Amino acid sequence: MTNSENLFSAGQLGKLLTSNRLVLAPMTRVSALENGNVGPLMAEYYNEFAAGGFGVIITEGLYTDRHYSQGYYRQPGLSSNEQAQSWQPIIQSVQEHGTKIIAQLMHAGALSSYNRFSENSAAPSAIQPKGKQMPLYYGSGDYSQPLAMSVNDIDNVLQGFADAARRAKDAGFDGVEIHGANGYLLDQFLTDYTNHREDQYGGDLRNRLRIYTDIVAAVRAAVGDDFLVGVRFSQKKVNDSQYCWPTAEDAAREIFSVIAVSGIDFLHITEPDIGQSAFNEGASLVSLAKKYSGLSVIGNGGVVTAEQASASFTEQQVDFLALGKVALANPDWPNLARLGGAIKAFDPAMFTPLADLPSARDYANKSVAVCFES
Ligand SMILES: Cc1cc2nc3c(=O)[nH]c(=O)nc-3n(C[C@H](O)[C@H](O)[C@H](O)COP(=O)(O)O)c2cc1C
Repeated sequence: MTNSENLFSAGQLGKLLTSNRLVLAPMTRVSALENGNVGPLMAEYYNEFAAGGFGVIITEGLYTDRHYSQGYYRQPGLSSNEQAQSWQPIIQSVQEHGTKIIAQLMHAGALSSYNRFSENSAAPSAIQPKGKQMPLYYGSGDYSQPLAMSVNDIDNVLQGFADAARRAKDAGFDGVEIHGANGYLLDQFLTDYTNHREDQYGGDLRNRLRIYTDIVAAVRAAVGDDFLVGVRFSQKKVNDSQYCWPTAEDAAREIFSVIAVSGIDFLHITEPDIGQSAFNEGASLVSLAKKYSGLSVIGNGGVVTAEQASASFTEQQVDFLALGKVALANPDWPNLARLGGAIKAFDPAMFTPLADLPSARDYANKSVAVCFES
């Protein structure tokens, strides 16, 4: 990194040129229409971050297929051309500010609270997830025990990611991020306690990583070499906040060096605190990602103030910094930070209803009719 590089200098994410190094972290807002299309209030929501100076926006996780990928009620999807095209007004208004927009492709696997296409969830193995469903996303109670995916189900997952990526490209997104983090489907394959498979998708770490590299290959074949493709990793899960990769830096070395040659352009790493040692002592996960992949890396986690952001950017040698909760409190965080304005603290009350459509505000206590579609 040269001295002239700072949070506000122009950047390059893979092949994508960006106006600065500040990225809106992907945040599920469960504010789509029931059919998974997005509407005008979400356009307002995303536009605020573009107007507020973010160089890149990563959307909330978008489900990829009409089998088992949907995780939440009112989650937006990319499982049809209509859903993808509904993003066009958002894409256009964001890009008019000079901001790039990346679609996050997400399969919830066993952590599905609601799926209008299926009564069951499906995962690498039939193991009931730890933890409880999240009320913030209209979930309640325990997760159900998922079906174990057949190889045909896995082929459907690959096809779903490939089709969703192609639709994202056709709709005008600047790239896609494959959600491999936070305990959702891909992470369920990676994690030994949720993956007891005995085929080529289970067993040693290389096999448990296979779903990632297969998805990247399928996505790359669908969108071509020039379209931006990245993968997000974490150790922690929404239903297991203490989890660390059991073989520590050996796992980091293998994961990041295998994914580096899979055909992606960038890695996005999230930890509760971007600078914390990944494994009790020593380097942070984001710096291990940089070391073992050599790719452009987006780092995320726990940054609030402009001072913290600058220090993380320099000390962790990240190429980009993604902000989540503090951006909900300050959609104009980049402009505030650049001009020395006051950054508001995040308050959990801000989770709602920022992007919420009015009818979702009345949702509490209503039962949801599950509609099955082929
Ligand atoms: C309301 C909310 C929704 C989130 N949804 C997603 C998501 O859809 N995909 C994802 O990869 N991470 C999601 N995350 C995690 C954030 O991207 C980010 O990693 C996390 O908030 C930590 O960053 P922060 O400390 O800057 O908030 C979500 C976080 C919040 C607070």
